[in-house]
Amino acid sequence: IESRHRLRVSWMAPYACQRRTPLLHSNQPLTEVLETLAEEASFSGSEGRSLAFTRAASVLKALPGRLSALEELGPLPGIGEHSRRVIQDVLEDGVSVEVERVKLSERYRTMKLFTRIFGVGVRTASRWYQEGLRTLVDLQERNTKLTRQQQAGLRHYEDLNTPVERGEAEFIGQMVQEAVQRFLPGASVTLAGGFRRGKPHGHDIDLLLTHPEAGREAGLLSRAVCLSPDQGLILYQHSQENSFTLHESPEAPGGRDLLDRFERCFSIFRLEVRGGPGAARGWKAVRVDLVVAPVSQFPFALLGWTGSRHFERELRRFAGHERKMVLNSHTLYDTRRNLFLPAASEEEIFQHLGLEYVPPAQRNA
Ligand code: GTP
Ligand code: MN
Ligand code: MN
Repeated sequence: IESRHRLRVSWMAPYACQRRTPLLHSNQPLTEVLETLAEEASFSGSEGRSLAFTRAASVLKALPGRLSALEELGPLPGIGEHSRRVIQDVLEDGVSVEVERVKLSERYRTMKLFTRIFGVGVRTASRWYQEGLRTLVDLQERNTKLTRQQQAGLRHYEDLNTPVERGEAEFIGQMVQEAVQRFLPGASVTLAGGFRRGKPHGHDIDLLLTHPEAGREAGLLSRAVCLSPDQGLILYQHSQENSFTLHESPEAPGGRDLLDRFERCFSIFRLEVRGGPGAARGWKAVRVDLVVAPVSQFPFALLGWTGSRHFERELRRFAGHERKMVLNSHTLYDTRRNLFLPAASEEEIFQHLGLEYVPPAQRNA
């Protein structure tokens, strides 16, 4: 009798930022159902429950092989009762009745439809659902009040819900690089987000801009890209100026992170295409996030904008709970020694935190 190779996992580091999580893993069917439940919980405003499912999914993504029975898992951190039950159902029956029910429910489906509109979060979607709205046509027919951002989101709904390919991301990165160089030679553009983690496609393109000379980067976005005279290229944009200063006290661990303080621009670009959706038109709408960081904050910005979202959350939780440090996309602050810890690279930030370096491709937590 051939002895089947069985997984035996009795220990795993408690924080996702202490683990390596590759993009491809062996437990996709399990993580998918757990993430559906996480999404459903966040749709109902249960952030705690949502996080619990996300944590469980994240642990499974870091397993060294395919799980075939619940007993193979020791009492790992982050996999609660409810998650275990769901995992068992899927391992035994191939499906979880609970998850199937969620996916068919009118509320889940409608929330998913609405939150896929650029600019619509859980709260807005939930309000619309309560008002009896169910479809995108309903929004138009009932003259629902929409922000400018949501109007753009609705107008380009199909395009924006079509995955962006890596080639497209690189092309737009190149385009922005050229525009930026014309205004400020020496400025650089870095592709962050999911693409930096090795994803073959994504929901948007995250670009990080900087310049090696401190201060030169200020105002770069508005001058070079977002308010460029070449308006035909940009279908929508809303910008914000840098509002970060070192003089205010760093926010408490777990508080709202400061990501939003950079000079940045949420936009929709018009991308020329030959094939795929939009081929008949010759173009397709693509979401682009542009962020400008001063060079001294660049490694923090890069770390913060590479994700995954859960990896970032875990990094900040680790910094706060284990090191009494406050990490955000601008700085790392040591509250015991009352000082900011500068870093010239992502590696140095991990060193300050006393963490083994995790390369971007292993941050898919
Ligand atoms: P896809 O775009 O779907 O491929 O995934 P992604 O991992 O690139 O996600 P996304 O573009 O949403 O965000 C990339 C990273 O930037 C995330 O890991 C976040 O940590 C960070 N980020 C982007 N926008 C925001 C924001 O508005 N607030 C916060 N807190 N973080 C953000
Ligand atoms: Mn992204
Ligand atoms: Mn983004």
